[in-house]
Amino acid sequence: MSETAKLKIGDNSYEFPIIKGSENELAIDIKTLRGETNGVITIDPGYKNTGACKSAITFLNGEKGVLRYRGYSIEDLAEKADFLEVAYLLIFGELPTKEKLVKFHSDIKENAIVDDDVRKILDAFPKIAHPMGILSSLTSALTAFNPSSVNVDSDEEMYRAIVKIMGKLPVLVSWAMRKINGLPLNYGSNSLGYVENVMNMMFSKPNEEYTVNPIVKDALNKLLILHADHEQNCSTSTVRIVGSSHAGLFASLSAGISALWGPLHGGANQAVLEMLESIKEDGGDTKKYMAKAKDKNDPFRLMGFGHRVYKNFDPRAKIIKVAADQVLNDLGIDDPILDVAKSLEQEALNDPYFVDRKLYPNVDFYSGIIYRAMGIPVEMFTVMFALGRLPGWIAQWREMRLGKEPIGRPRQIYTGESLRKFKAIQKR
Ligand code: SDX
Repeated sequence: MSETAKLKIGDNSYEFPIIKGSENELAIDIKTLRGETNGVITIDPGYKNTGACKSAITFLNGEKGVLRYRGYSIEDLAEKADFLEVAYLLIFGELPTKEKLVKFHSDIKENAIVDDDVRKILDAFPKIAHPMGILSSLTSALTAFNPSSVNVDSDEEMYRAIVKIMGKLPVLVSWAMRKINGLPLNYGSNSLGYVENVMNMMFSKPNEEYTVNPIVKDALNKLLILHADHEQNCSTSTVRIVGSSHAGLFASLSAGISALWGPLHGGANQAVLEMLESIKEDGGDTKKYMAKAKDKNDPFRLMGFGHRVYKNFDPRAKIIKVAADQVLNDLGIDDPILDVAKSLEQEALNDPYFVDRKLYPNVDFYSGIIYRAMGIPVEMFTVMFALGRLPGWIAQWREMRLGKEPIGRPRQIYTGESLRKFKAIQKR
C-alpha cells in the first residue's frame, strides 16, 4: 500500500505522507498542505474526519464497539480494577504496583483539603445554580489558591498539580451535592479508600455514623472507571486546546467541565432521566417519543442514543445496563424507569430509522438509573461523569504538554463581505 496520499488541485499534484497507528489506523499527514498548495486548507465541521493529535492513552473502535485504556480492555478494568489504579494507569501509562498506588493515594490525601475561602464562592451561588456551573467555577478558582499549579515545567511540578486536583475535585463534587441537599460541607476521612471517601463526603450526615454500602461502592467504582477516558471527545479536546495555550491544569479542566455540561455530551445522562420520567408521566407511551425523535421538524432527540464514533453498541452501555439490573436488584429497588428504558431500547433497536443510522444506546442511557438508585439528584449526574472523566482529562492534558504540542489554532474559510468602505452614521 502506498505510504503517501496523492492530491490533485488544478494542474498541480501533491503527495502527503500516510501515518499508521499501533492499531493500524491510517491518517494523511497534512501539516505541510497550506504551505505546499499556496494556501489551500481542509474543512471538516465537527472534526468527524480529522485527527487532532497522536495519543497513546485510549483506543476505541466504533465499528466493533472496542474500548481500551492503555491497551487494557474496558471489560477487564470495569470488572477487576479499582478506580484509583485506573486513574494511575491512564495518567502514567502503567498499572501501578501496590507501593506506587499507596504513594499516589497518600499524596492525593495530603492534598485533599480545599481552602476554606472557596466555600465563600460556593455560598455566593443561588440554591438553583446547576452543580456543573458550580464545579467549573470552583475548579477554575482553585488556581488562585494554588498558583504553583500553573507553570508546571518539571515532572515534579506537574505531579504536584495532578495530585492536588485528584484530591480536591471530589471535595468540590461533594460540596456541590451537599449544597443541593442543604447539608453542611465536610471533608470525609483519609482512613477510607478513594471511592469510599467520595461516597462518605457526598452522603454522610452530621448526626450519624456513615457506613459504606459495598453494593453502591462497587457500582460507583465501575461507573467512574467506565467514564474515565474516551479519546478526543468534545470535553477532552477542550481540555487539550485550552491547555495548549499553557493555561494551567485547573483552568483547562474547568473548560472541559463546561464542555461536558452540554446535553449532546455529558449532560445527556441528566437529559435521559428527564426524558424517561416524562415518558413515564405520559403513560409510558414510548411510540410517541420514538416518532418525535424521528421527526425532522421536532428538535427532540432520543437522549442516550447515538454516538459520534460508536456505530455499534457502546461497550460501556452494555456493562452499565447489566450493572443497573444488579444494583436495583441488590438494593431491592423496583424502578419503573428501568422498564421504560428497556422498552425504548428494544423499540429503537428494531426501528429502521435508528438501525439505518447505527444509533445505539451510549454510556449515558443507563447510567442515570444507577445514580438515581444511589440517591444522587438528577442534576448531579453530569458532575459524576466529570468526576469519572477527571483522570482521562489529566492524562490527555499531560500527554499534550509533555509532547510540547503547538497551541491549537484551527483555520477557517471566510464567507463574509468583501472589503467595503466605512459609512458615517448619517449616511447609513
Ligand atoms: C457522550 O464523543 C464521545 O466520546 C462522547 C462520550 C464520551 O465518553 O466522552 O461518549 C460521551 O457524549 C455520549 C453521547 C451523549 N449524547 C446523547 O446521548 C445525545 C443524543 N445523541 C445525539 O445528539 C447524537 O447522537 C450525538 C451528538 C451523540 C452524535 O451526533 P453526530 O455524530 O454529530 O451525529 P449526527 O447528529 O450527524 O446524526 C446523524 C443522524 C442524523 O439524522 P440525518 O440527518 O442523517 O437524517 O442521526 C440522527 C441525526 O438526526 N440522530 C438522532 C440521534 N442521534 C443522531 N436522531 C434521534 N435521536 C438521536 N439521539
